[in-house]
Amino acid sequence: MIFNDDKTEKEIIEKIDAAKEFLDRTPQKILIKNTGKIIKSIPAIPQISKKWFQKSYVIEPDKNDFLTGKGVFYLTEGRKLFLDTTAGHYQMTWGYDHPVLMNNLEKALEAGIPWDCHSNIPGFYVKKLSEKLVQICNPQANIQYIRNKQDSLNTVLLGIATGSVACSTAMKIAINYFKKNKPLAKKMVLVSLNGNYHGTDFLMQGLRGMWKELFSKYIIFEMVEPNDINGLRNVFKKHEKNIAAFFFEPVMMNREAILLNRDFIQEARNLTEKVDALMIVDEIQTCCWYPEIFMYKQFDITPDILILGKGLTAGFHPLSAIVYKRKLDSLKQYDAISTNGNAPLPAFMALSCLNLIERSLHTIGTLSSYYEKSLEKLVCEFPDIIVSRQGSGFLSGLKFKNQQIALQFHKKCLASGIWLRVHAYYQGHSTALTKFALCVTKDIIDFATTSFRKILKRF
Ligand SMILES: Cc1ncc(COP(=O)(O)O)c(C=O)c1O
Repeated sequence: MIFNDDKTEKEIIEKIDAAKEFLDRTPQKILIKNTGKIIKSIPAIPQISKKWFQKSYVIEPDKNDFLTGKGVFYLTEGRKLFLDTTAGHYQMTWGYDHPVLMNNLEKALEAGIPWDCHSNIPGFYVKKLSEKLVQICNPQANIQYIRNKQDSLNTVLLGIATGSVACSTAMKIAINYFKKNKPLAKKMVLVSLNGNYHGTDFLMQGLRGMWKELFSKYIIFEMVEPNDINGLRNVFKKHEKNIAAFFFEPVMMNREAILLNRDFIQEARNLTEKVDALMIVDEIQTCCWYPEIFMYKQFDITPDILILGKGLTAGFHPLSAIVYKRKLDSLKQYDAISTNGNAPLPAFMALSCLNLIERSLHTIGTLSSYYEKSLEKLVCEFPDIIVSRQGSGFLSGLKFKNQQIALQFHKKCLASGIWLRVHAYYQGHSTALTKFALCVTKDIIDFATTSFRKILKRF
């Protein structure tokens, strides 16, 4: 208890305990049966108002706010049971309250590993995580040999909390590289994809068309349609050596889960190499959700900078990282990391998460392709309503014929206790999106897709 005299706090804690106990003791089969229902066997919770938040943060009524979760299920303050198909909005790699991760966390706390610490004395797990990330990037290579190569992904910048800072760190490296290698260039060109999302930093928002007036003297932002090889070639032809970097996300989770194709990415690699621009892959969404762990490997390319975040720590205190080639190592101590902080416990949790992934590669591969196939079936069954399956593996969506259907589908899913996202607020966008946590089971996938089917039949 934090507020000794606050009766509401006491009441809330007791009731959260009761709700959590319900999730802990109820078998998956029964949770599935009760999805979308108000669980009356747990006590009602006094709801706390969001009146002090900024306006844009107040979207759902208080009764829909998160109370407690277990695996892929969670309960709201209004006691409604939800199946979360989004892994806590894309970052809880192993769902809520995973037993192995919780057990590891307890042991780490007992061992006195701190959440945050001096960056000058990073400690065992931070060092171990940096080594692990390099190993995943270079699985076949002798690690000592890799260390001395200028052109391998062998340098790690850790200690960045959010993905936005990781993205802006990659941007700073790209700018340094550009200034050093192309000192005569009058303008710098940054290329990205239409519909990109690389976080909330100024320059990264510049990539998606914001704040242009602040940068227009020196920077040109070019956006290419995803998978438009000719469009990409035209931009590279137009700006050639003035291009500093090309940023992309393998699955565009902020634009209808568009999956980039191999030809497009390989051409991007050729073009960036030709003009000595950096290829920067933002895997804040895709890292840790595929058997390869980093999705860039599926395209058979090596980027210059790899950006990691979100799922890396499975939702325990955010920790982001960039992995890049040694020749790009240009930032000084206070250029990008959190000023003095470092993150031993999040690094430990990231290692635990990676370890779980490595132990589950086969299941991840099997279940994610089973999910893809289940969604494909829906595409075939409802050709008048669904246009396509989007994305890849658990990061998949259904693109509908129009915005209205997508919004209706989303609303009906929420009403029946299935939490998912929708992109249908821009013209032409009409996709419902999911990103299942890796603890998902075949029964849960069947339940979700059967529920989608039932909803689609009612259109
Ligand atoms: C692809 C991508 N890049 C960057 C970010 C920013 O990460 P963060 O929210 O941790 O700052 C996000 C967040 O959703 C993202 O999806």
